[in-house]
This record gives sequence, structure tokens and C-alpha cells, in this order.
Amino acid sequence: MKPSVKPGNPNFSSGPCSKRPGYDVSTLRLDTLGRSHRSALGKAALGRVCSQTAELLKLPASYRVGVVPASDTGAFEMAMWSLLGQRPVDVFSWESFGEGWASDISKQLKIRELRSFVAPYGELPDLGQSNPDHDIVFTWNGTTSGVRVSDGDWISADRTGLTLCDATSAVFAMPLPWEKLDVVTFSWQKVLGGEGAHGMLILSPRAVARLESYTPPWPLPKIFRMVKGGKLIDGIFSGETINTPSMLCVADYLDALDWAEKIGGVQETIARSQRNLAVLERFVENHEWMHFLAKDSGIRSNTSVCLTLDLAPEQVKAMVRLLETERVALDIGAYRDAPAGLRIWCGATVETSDLEKLMPWLEWAFDNVKQG
Ligand SMILES: Cc1ncc(COP(=O)(O)O)c(C=O)c1O
Repeated sequence: MKPSVKPGNPNFSSGPCSKRPGYDVSTLRLDTLGRSHRSALGKAALGRVCSQTAELLKLPASYRVGVVPASDTGAFEMAMWSLLGQRPVDVFSWESFGEGWASDISKQLKIRELRSFVAPYGELPDLGQSNPDHDIVFTWNGTTSGVRVSDGDWISADRTGLTLCDATSAVFAMPLPWEKLDVVTFSWQKVLGGEGAHGMLILSPRAVARLESYTPPWPLPKIFRMVKGGKLIDGIFSGETINTPSMLCVADYLDALDWAEKIGGVQETIARSQRNLAVLERFVENHEWMHFLAKDSGIRSNTSVCLTLDLAPEQVKAMVRLLETERVALDIGAYRDAPAGLRIWCGATVETSDLEKLMPWLEWAFDNVKQG
């Protein structure tokens, strides 16, 4: 039977992700619009982006947080281009974004001393193969496969290499062992439901020391440069951005940070996401035609939850279309390079009650498609 109750918010996309509950664009503080981002007002807003992010994430006091251009890709490429090349690199990938970083390290940066560890969709490569004297590059949560790293125990506290971690769909949703991570990047439009455009770059003191003591052999565009005269450009980490940011996106991110703080901080944003995953886990347990791409629950993402169905790929597409037409779930088809299936975002901005309302619709849509 067709369910009668629809989710209040059908936005289950994995990026840009749903806005926070109660979001209202008209309540954003817009006094920075039309002003210079280098005015006292603009700088204060950008400075708060850095300081409030650090506070909420409980970063070690010695870590830096900066706003950089071009979203998570910009932040991660900037880190790779600025830091890699000094020592051998171990790169771990298990879905399309991680594969992209591996490919850039080998084909663009042309690093010869490179070991690439790859796992198929749904699995993790053997992280225990990493060498603590090498630089280690990996993605905390593979957004297109729904597989995440479970912890940082495999990273040596005595490493001499750096760890570079793309954590765009993990920050604010999963506990991260900051002391084990030298570079962490993320973007605003994922877990906090902000806007795309700007990247967040978090650096450990060891990453800063590398920046100040090592110059890569390749040219760096201005947009990637974090060092001047052998010193870190400190301003980047206190709100003096390299080039002009969108102050509208900044206002929107500050609103998201305030919401995260109000509901109880990162502990609560993580808990919301875990409760959301639990809804799907209960459903999968009771429906033998639906499966997690990540079979091992210890490495299963609680943000980008990827599911396969006992249906042909065209039938999966028809099911996704049907759910869109009914406006109960938008943008939940698996990523184009991933196995056919569904990807349902379970980050903090998604209401658990909306996922509960979606479940009967999945059953209805599956039956509908199955019967042709
Ligand atoms: C793991 C991962 N890395 C990188 C990106 C690219 O992010 P952006 O579009 O913010 O540059 C994404 C986007 O979904 C992602 O999931």
C-alpha cells in the first residue's frame, strides 16, 4: 500500500547536503555583504569561521584552521602540492575520490616513490601496510562507497612522515584522532549543510614545519601558496583569505556552526548521524532485498550510506525516479562510478524522523518497480 506520510524534508543528497532543521535564509547575518572581506567586519567574520570551527571540533591548541579556495578539492590539492615530494608516499583508496588523489599523485605530481593500496567498492585496503616514515594519503570517509576508516590506531604516534586526510564527509560526523592527522580537509556543504565554494584546511605543527622547511620542485599557483619567505602565511589561518571569498557563504556557515553549538556540539552532531544510520540498519535487517555496500559494520559510514538492491540497474534508476516524483527522497541514486544502488545521506542535518518516514516508501517503491 502506498504510504500516506511523507518526510517533512526530502533532501537526502550526499552533497550539497540538507540544510539544518529550521534553516531560514532570511535570518542569516548579512551585514558583511557588499563590504570588503578585508574590512574589520569581514575579517572578524572569517576569523570566527576559523576559531569557532577549532573550538567546536576541540582541535589541539597548536593546530591551525584556514579557509581556502575551491572547496574540499581545493584544500586537499593545495595540501598535496605544497607538502608532498619530500619522502615516499603511501596512498590508500577505496572509491572514486580517493582514486582521484592517487591518480594526481602519480600522474600530475609524478611521485616515483609511490605505493598505492586499492580496495574495491565496499571494502578497505590493508591500512596496516602503511609505513610511518612515508607520507600517508587517504580519505576518512569514502563518500561514494559508504566505507570509512574505523579509527586511527593504524597510524603511528612516532611517525616521521605526514598524514594527509580528506575528511570532507566525516568532520562533525565521526570522531577524528586529531593527534594522528597532520592535514585534514573538509567543505561546508557536507555534514553542516553549508554552501559549496570554500575549503577548510587544518594543519598540525608538523605539517607547518614541513611547509616552512621544504619547497616542492614544481611550480605552485598563487591560489595554493601558504608560505612566503620560508614562513607560513599566518593570516590565512585567522581570516585573511588568499583571495576573495563569498561572504554570503561565510554567513551561512556561521549560522550552521551556531546551530551545531546550540544542539550540543560535535558530540551531538555525531550522535544524530549515528541515530540516522540506525534507522537504515533496522530496515536492512528486516528486508532481505536491501544490502549495505559496506558489509562490515565496523567500517560502515554513518553519513553517506550506500545500499545495493536485488534489482537490475535500470530498475534501481526507476525506483530513484519514482521516489523523486513522489518528492519523498531527492538525489539518492548511487554515485555514477559506484555500483548501482541508493546512497542516503545520514549526516546531522537530516532528521531521524524523516528517515523513519522514508522507510515505508522504499518498500513501496521497490515493490512497485519489481512488479513492473
Ligand atoms: C571524499 C570526497 N572528497 C572530495 C570531494 C570533493 O569535494 P568538493 O566538491 O567540496 O571539492 C567529495 C565530494 O563529495 C568527497 O566526497
